Amino acid sequence: MRSDRQSDLSTQKERFDVIILAAGLGTRMKSGKAKVLHELGGRPLIAHVCRAARQLTPRTIYVVVGHQANDVEAAVRECAPDANLEFVEQGAQRGTGDAVMAAQDNLKSSREPLLVLSGDVPLVKAETLQRLLEQHQSSGAACSIVSIRLENPTGYGRIVRDETGKFLKIVEQKDASEAEKEIREVNSGFYCFDPPSLFSALEKVEPANKQGEYYLTDVPAIIANSGKKIQVYSHPGARELSGINTRAELAEFENLLRRRTIRTLMLEGGVTFIDPSHAYISADARIGRDCIIHPDVMIEGATVLEEGCVVRSGTRITNSRLGPNVTVKDHCVIVDSDIEANCSVGPFAHLRQNARLEEGSAVGNFVELKKTRLGRGSKSMHLTYLGDAQIGEHTNIGAGTVTCNYDGKKKNQTIIEDEVKIGSDTMLVAPVRVGKGSVTGAGSVVIHDVPPDSLVAGVPAVIKKRLGKTMGEEGN
Ligand code: UD1
Ligand code: CA
Repeated sequence: MRSDRQSDLSTQKERFDVIILAAGLGTRMKSGKAKVLHELGGRPLIAHVCRAARQLTPRTIYVVVGHQANDVEAAVRECAPDANLEFVEQGAQRGTGDAVMAAQDNLKSSREPLLVLSGDVPLVKAETLQRLLEQHQSSGAACSIVSIRLENPTGYGRIVRDETGKFLKIVEQKDASEAEKEIREVNSGFYCFDPPSLFSALEKVEPANKQGEYYLTDVPAIIANSGKKIQVYSHPGARELSGINTRAELAEFENLLRRRTIRTLMLEGGVTFIDPSHAYISADARIGRDCIIHPDVMIEGATVLEEGCVVRSGTRITNSRLGPNVTVKDHCVIVDSDIEANCSVGPFAHLRQNARLEEGSAVGNFVELKKTRLGRGSKSMHLTYLGDAQIGEHTNIGAGTVTCNYDGKKKNQTIIEDEVKIGSDTMLVAPVRVGKGSVTGAGSVVIHDVPPDSLVAGVPAVIKKRLGKTMGEEGN
């Protein structure tokens, strides 16, 4: 069964391959981290390009890796787990031509079109790649280049044409004459090649330029000179095909993506932003109708807010779910947590590691929940730590309560049943259970299970034993 299904899938793949160049460090980022690992909209740059490539279902996606190869590979595998991926290592980064050359053993004898993409051009759309592929195939060209027009072409390779408009060559910024620098039509770094023409031209490329690199951009002229056809497609969306080379460009793109996401949420999603220029919403988040997002809110990852939620200033919500009509007051941090309908959180609350608020429950000022479930209609409003705890319905946790979950070796569970009143400043020394309907007095230290409907009070500060020398040495 399984192998049948797999072969079905593989026959669905199209007859072309993709290669993504992602080995460079990206010197202009001035970073210890490879450029394609820098994040845009919460995802590494390379993941954006991979997603677009994957949508075309190519036969194989080759990724040329070098700097931080393992991390780049992991990022690619994470974003395209279902694609047929091959990683080729470029030992030393000697230019984009050399990068493609690293995959020659895999691709030299291929007769199917090869799309060449740059790992640092994150806004590219799948439709644009699809069009490039189709145009390449129908034109019968050996090489198709996508060009864009830029007001400020600095840094890009220029498309040089003769007086009849025929393509002559690409010249890099650093090698361009003053006249060539005036050209506004630039190379986007997206190409489609016939592999035999590509690899035989690559063999002729010399590093005879200012940077001493093997340029992929020398290939089209070599192919043209051999009498084969070159096509240049001018793409209208310059922004979509602009690369990221510096942190300033990264910030500019982040801003662009952010504005786009928020605009769509306002116009199509019915979400109110009090100040759209000061809200940060991941492109993977879903925000329901009639939510109100105040300034300086950050919503990260695949967070879901259902209808009618209000999030006040200074709050960060990461990979969490908020049911309908949840209010999150100012300055909360909510990570990997689940909040059901009509709950209220904050101000200054911290929910993490699978904190779970059931319907209509509330946590208030300076309350932290970790791996804890707070039952329907229960409340914990002030200065409290609830870790590894299961709390029932309609229970009230008084100010200053602490679940003492850590005994120095492991974390222990606290169970508080329904309709319990935990008095202010109660220490619950886990593992411990407080039965239904019980009450703890203010300042009590609960070290034994409390049966249902009981009142407990007091501090059992008895000497249990002397801490031995060996124990002292271990106790770090
Ligand atoms: C390149 C083009 C330029 C084009 C621009 C568009 C060349 C020589 N120049 O310039 O014409 O206008 O893209 O964005 O191709 N890489 C490797 N190995 C290397 C060098 C680079 O894998 O040895 C990868 C980088 O990681 C990056 C991509 O190739 O993802 C492009 O390299 P980059 O140095 O950014 O080229 P640009 O100077 O932008
Ligand atoms: Ca670039």
